[in-house]
Amino acid sequence: VSDMLVDTHGRRHNYLRISLTERCNLRCKYCMPAEGVELTAAPKLLAENEIMRIARLFVAEGVNKIRLTGGEPTVRSNIEDICAQLSCLPGLKHLAITTNGLVLARKLPRLQAAGVNQLNISLDTLVPAKFELLTRRKGHGKVLQAIETALELGYNPVKVNVVVMRNFNDDELIDFVEMTRFKPINVRFIEFMPFDGNVWSSKKLVSYIEMLSTLREKYPSLSRLRDHPSDTAKNFRVDGFEGTVSFITSMTNSFCGGCNRLRLMADGNFKVCLFGPAEVSLRDAIRSGVDDEGLKEIIGDAVKRKKAAHAGMFDLAKTQNRPMIHIGG
Ligand code: GTP
Ligand code: 5AD
Ligand code: SF4
Repeated sequence: VSDMLVDTHGRRHNYLRISLTERCNLRCKYCMPAEGVELTAAPKLLAENEIMRIARLFVAEGVNKIRLTGGEPTVRSNIEDICAQLSCLPGLKHLAITTNGLVLARKLPRLQAAGVNQLNISLDTLVPAKFELLTRRKGHGKVLQAIETALELGYNPVKVNVVVMRNFNDDELIDFVEMTRFKPINVRFIEFMPFDGNVWSSKKLVSYIEMLSTLREKYPSLSRLRDHPSDTAKNFRVDGFEGTVSFITSMTNSFCGGCNRLRLMADGNFKVCLFGPAEVSLRDAIRSGVDDEGLKEIIGDAVKRKKAAHAGMFDLAKTQNRPMIHIGG
């Protein structure tokens, strides 16, 4: 990667997460408050050509992986067009989407044709009634169907993101692991993280160590696999199972040292850390006529201000950050 993408701690950022929209067709409690969130007025959201200008610049500087997030990225009507353009950028190897899967079964063939080659689907419970309680909407069957469609279309692995919350789904860990027995699914258990409006409490957090010991009792052969230094997940497999099981341990075992991620939000703000409140508007820079050199300087300066690590979990819970639905994970 170019200098622009290297921070003062030597981390090389080759992975850009782009939030395509602040909207979502679910209302997950861990992601947004009951009353919803304030939406940015449409003219202040990045237009397709602005997203492409920024993405092109990042890829030219060395980004080789782009993940589209939201809100829910599939509610943006021109997502297929955006994907088709992104996947043509020379140097881009991975075009990924993180989605709640609700409308995916229908859209996936076209997204795949547009170059989407990695898929992470969020599903926090295997019990339909609990799904409705958490997401405040119906649609559990559609998400299960999306996972099947992704498998049929050859996505391997299909990653399933499970945010684990005490007294909500911590009794389902084994059922989720069973999904990996015969299918190339990577189930990823995520420690519950605090964001504005999600009523986080350490009591709801189920730690990596606790999850691992629950699973080891049932699956003594659960063993650690090698992971990439910049992976968010610690990866495991039960002997003989087709798929894998991972843990994303942001709260109890953070992985900032290997971070390779930067974020562009739907309103054009650029964020160098999920938990860092610092943001700079690339939209305003573009709309005031900045050239690519100027844009690179703004991005490079922000990257150089990135902190070595985020605060500990109790400080984090007190820090102001945006609600998750704006950041996109
Ligand atoms: P892969 O590219 O498939 O490894 O996915 P990913 O983990 O990078 O992205 P995904 O959107 O599936 O996010 C899974 C979980 O990891 C979410 O809870 C994210 O909030 C969290 N996550 C993603 N990037 C970071 C990060 O830079 N720091 C921390 N602490 N958590 C992150
Ligand atoms: N803690 C942990 N993970 C979260 N996600 C959303 N909110 C939270 C939270 N508070 C997950 C979603 C999605 C990914 C982008 O982030 O489930 O899979
Ligand atoms: Fe929507 Fe994803 Fe937030 Fe759920 S976690 S409300 S699916 S953006």
